[in-house]
Amino acid sequence: MRNGCALLAIALLAACADTTIVDPMERQPKARAFAANPFFEDGRAMRQPPPGTVPRERIVQNPALTRGQVGDKDVTEIPVRLTRALLDLGHRKFDIYCATCHGLVGDGRSPVAANMALRLPPDLHDRAGMAVGHYYQVIANGFGLMPGYAAELNVEERWAVVAYLRALQLSQAAPLALAPPQERERLSKEKPR
Ligand code: HEC
Repeated sequence: MRNGCALLAIALLAACADTTIVDPMERQPKARAFAANPFFEDGRAMRQPPPGTVPRERIVQNPALTRGQVGDKDVTEIPVRLTRALLDLGHRKFDIYCATCHGLVGDGRSPVAANMALRLPPDLHDRAGMAVGHYYQVIANGFGLMPGYAAELNVEERWAVVAYLRALQLSQAAPLALAPPQERERLSKEKPR
């Protein structure tokens, strides 16, 4: 009797695991990825897209935006609208993808850098003043030993990182003239560190 119960339980469990019983879409005939399919001449279920097909989300004919270049000239203005939200996005992405090597303030000090031997990630404040298109290309394509981040960051996110990098560079080397007047006075009395 006990054995009979156990068998029944196993049979019921097996029935539950088999979703084709309850889900007709699981049962219907369909082409599965990488499977053979005699319907097509080449016998494959997966089809090649027609030549020249581009993904719907790909931005075309706007090299300033997608390559950071027009002709062979790096763009000097960030081609997306600068907003607080863009800077916040850039901040988040910089901390994830760049700070690991270049440090949270971009000064090249990070645990990874401390353990690197070959070519150290540079202090990004030493690289201030370069065309924004150049930074964009470094992020998209990589630079020397630095890998590119095109797979991790989409076009908007790359520009967001560029915008944040510019803000970061300014934050570490802002001229006194940019401070509000009352702060300027207080700061000019402070002893330089
Ligand atoms: C794995 C470590 C690493 C990460 C992560 C990294 N970098 Fe770099 N980066 C480097 C190294 C190393 C160099 C120097 C490469 C060389 O000169 O061969 C460099 C160089 C640079 C330069 C200087 C380019 C020039 O013209 O001199 C910039 C700007 C830069 N990185 C920005 C970034 C940004 C922005 C990110 C995030 C998207 C990032 N890096 C992520 C390691 C890294």
